[in-house]
Amino acid sequence: MPAVISAICATTLLWATQTVAVPSPPWANQSLSPDARAGLVVQAMTEAEQLAIVRGILGIPYHPGVPAPLGGNPQFHDLVGSSGYVPGNARLGIPPLQETDASLGVANLLGMMRPGDVATALPSGLSLGASFDPQMAHAGAAMIASEAWHKGLNVLLGPGMNLVRDPRGGRNFEYLSEDPWLTGTLAAESIRGIQEQHVIAVPKHFVLNDQETNRSWANAVIDEAALRQSDLLAFELAIESASPGAVMCSYNLVNGVHACDSDHLLNRIVKGDWQYPGWVMSDWGAVHRVDAAANGLDQESAADIDEQVYFDAPLKKALQAGTIPQARLNDMVRRILRSMFAEGLFDHRPVKSAIDYKADGEVALREAEEGIVLLKNDDHLLPLAPKPLRIAVIGGHADGGVLSGGGSSQVMPVGGPALTVPVEAGDNPMTAGLNAMLFDPSSPLAALRAKERDSQIRFDPGNYPEAAAALAKWADVVVVFALQWETEGKDLPSLSLPGGQNELIAAVAAANPRTVVVLETGGAVEMPWLNDVGAVIEAWYPGQRGGEAIADVLTGAVDPSGHLPITFPKSIGQTPRPAIPGSDVVEPAAAMGPASSGGGTAFDVNYSEGALVGYRWFAQRGLAPLFPFGHGLSYTAFAYANLQLDGGKALRVGFDVTNTGSVPGDAVPEIYLTSRGDETLQRLIGFSRVSLKPGETRHVSMNVDPRLLADFDAAHGGWNVPAASYTVALGRSASDTVLTASAPIQGSTLKP
Ligand code: BGC
Repeated sequence: MPAVISAICATTLLWATQTVAVPSPPWANQSLSPDARAGLVVQAMTEAEQLAIVRGILGIPYHPGVPAPLGGNPQFHDLVGSSGYVPGNARLGIPPLQETDASLGVANLLGMMRPGDVATALPSGLSLGASFDPQMAHAGAAMIASEAWHKGLNVLLGPGMNLVRDPRGGRNFEYLSEDPWLTGTLAAESIRGIQEQHVIAVPKHFVLNDQETNRSWANAVIDEAALRQSDLLAFELAIESASPGAVMCSYNLVNGVHACDSDHLLNRIVKGDWQYPGWVMSDWGAVHRVDAAANGLDQESAADIDEQVYFDAPLKKALQAGTIPQARLNDMVRRILRSMFAEGLFDHRPVKSAIDYKADGEVALREAEEGIVLLKNDDHLLPLAPKPLRIAVIGGHADGGVLSGGGSSQVMPVGGPALTVPVEAGDNPMTAGLNAMLFDPSSPLAALRAKERDSQIRFDPGNYPEAAAALAKWADVVVVFALQWETEGKDLPSLSLPGGQNELIAAVAAANPRTVVVLETGGAVEMPWLNDVGAVIEAWYPGQRGGEAIADVLTGAVDPSGHLPITFPKSIGQTPRPAIPGSDVVEPAAAMGPASSGGGTAFDVNYSEGALVGYRWFAQRGLAPLFPFGHGLSYTAFAYANLQLDGGKALRVGFDVTNTGSVPGDAVPEIYLTSRGDETLQRLIGFSRVSLKPGETRHVSMNVDPRLLADFDAAHGGWNVPAASYTVALGRSASDTVLTASAPIQGSTLKP
C-alpha cells in the first residue's frame, strides 16, 4: 500500500471513536502547530462544548461505600478511575483528560480509584531532592508517566514543587527542597520526563501552599520581590525550561487573594511576564467564585466538590451578562487544547497495556539509593564490618516494610502494602483512610539478612526499651529504625520523633554505643540522642525497594551519596515561625473533599523571612543547625581544586573534583554565592553530581543563571544584577566551604 494511503488509514483509525470511524477533521493534520490545531477546534465548538471542557469532576468511579459523584452516568463511560476527569468530546474527537496523582508513582488513594490496581512506588520527593540528580528526576518521572499512560491516564498532577518553608509541613515529603534552584532544576527534568511519554505534567501547588494547617484559608503574606526570588523563581525556572502543559494553582491565599483567583499571579505573572501558553487548573476544591475565570483560572478541577459548579451555569450567565468576555472562554479552551496537542494527547492516546514492573522497580531502587543521606558516621562505624557480626535490628516495622507518606500522592505499591497501621479513626469516608500509615514492601530486615548471610541478625520490634536494650547488649552493632509519618491535610505538631522512639533510641544507645539510627521520616527531626549514637542515616520514605537500598548503604554495597535538600534545625525555635499560624482556626472539615474549601475565615501566615528560606535564614541569623542544607557523608573522600570564575557579562564556574578514597562514589559539589560587593549572601547557584572511580579526577563547569545573582526590582518589574565583585564558594554543604574565588560582574537588568 502506498505510504500516503496507509498514513491516511492510520489517521482515520486514530481519530475514530470506539465505535464509528469518522473522517479526519482539519485539526488532525499533524503538520500544523499546536496553536493552529487548537484554534481550529475552538472555532468548531459550541458554547456548551466549550463549557464542558473548562471543568472536571472527581475521577473516582462508583465504589461500594464511597459517595459516588459519577454513579452510573453513561456520559462518563470511559472513566479510568483517578483523581480527576474531564470528559472528551466524541463529535470533535477530543480525548478525555484522565488526571492522576502524581510525583511518587501513579497514585491510587485508598485503593478506591482503581480497586486492586498497583503501581511502582518511588521514594519521597525529598529523597529525590537529596539525590541532587536531575537525570534521576527525569528517569523517575518518565517511569511514572509511562505507567500512567499504560493505565489509560494522560495527565500527571505533578511534580509537587513548593519550597519547604516549615519543617512541620505535612506535605514536605512530596516536595523537592527548600531552594529555588535545586527545586526548579529537578522539577524541570521531571516535567520533561513526564511529557516525553505523551502525558501532561502539572507542576503544583502554585503558589506558597507551604503549610497544611487550614490550607484553604491560610493567607501567605510576603513582599513581591521576596516572592519572585523564592517560590515563584522555582516555578519560573521549571516552566520556562520544560513547558508543562498545565500548572495547578493552590488552595491558599497570597497577599489577600486566593491563588486560583489571583489576577496578579495568574494573568500578570504567569501569563504576562512569563508568557506561559498552557493552562491553569485549580487544585481540588480550590475555586470559590466564577470571577476566577477572569482572573486567569482556565479550568475548575473536580468542580463537583466545590461549593457550587462555577464553570457551568454561573460562567454561562457571566458570559451572557458580558462580565466575562466570550474571548476569555475561547482563550481558556484554546489553552487546554493547545497543551493537549503539544504533548501528543490527540495523536498518541493512552493504551491500557502491560507494565514491566520489574524494570520500573529498578528505577525505584536506584532513586532510593541516590537519596539516602549518611548524616553521621563516627569511627567508620559504617559500612558494617568486620564480618561476621552479631547485628540487632530494632523498631520501625523493619521486619515488614518501609514507611510512605499519606494523602493524594499515596501509591498502592506493586505487591500491595506490606503493612497498614491505623493512626486515628475518622468518620468521614473521604478522609478516614488518610489516617493510616502504609508501609511499602521491601523489609530492611529481610534485605539485610539477604546481604549479611554469615552474620547473626536478631529483631526486636522496639515496643519496650528494656527488651530492645537487652538485645543491643548482645550485639556487635545495633541498627535502630525510627519513623515520622507525614500526611496531606495535617502539619506535624513538632519535630520530635513520636511514640517514645527517642526514649527507645536513648536506651539502645546506652546499652551499645555502636548504634546506627536509620530514619524513615518525611523531613527533619530533632535528635536528642545524637551524641550517643555512632551513625545516623536519613532514608526518607524510600519507596518500594527502600529496604534493599537501606541494606545496600549499611553494608557498603552502595556508597551513600545523598545530600540534605533541607536544613535540619536543632529545634523549631530556630525557624521563622515556631508556632504554626492558624492552628487555632477550626476549618470546617478535614483535608480532602467538599468541605475543605467551604466557608472559612482567612488568617495570615507572615512570611517575614521573605526569600531567606531554609539555609539562607540560618546564614543571615548566624544560626548553627543540627545538620546544614547540602550535608551528606560518603564512604570515600573527594578533593576539590582549581576553582575558577569567568566574570564579565555572565558568571561561569569551573573546578576539578577527585575521588581520593578507595571506593567508587558520587560527589555532589555545591556552588554558593557568598557575597556581592560588600553584601554577604548565601545562595545556591549551581550543583553537580559526578560519579568517580577511586583516583579519578573530573573537570566540572557550569553557567550560572543570572537571576540567581540578581535581586528582583518590584518597582520597575525586572531583575537587577548589580555591578560588583562576586564571591563564590565551593562547599560540601551550606556550612562547609572548601574553596572560594571572586570575579567582577557587569551590572545588567533582565525582564521579569
Ligand atoms: C491535592 C493535589 C492533588 C488533588 C487531586 C488535592 O487535595 O492538593 O495535590 O493533585 O487533590 O488528588
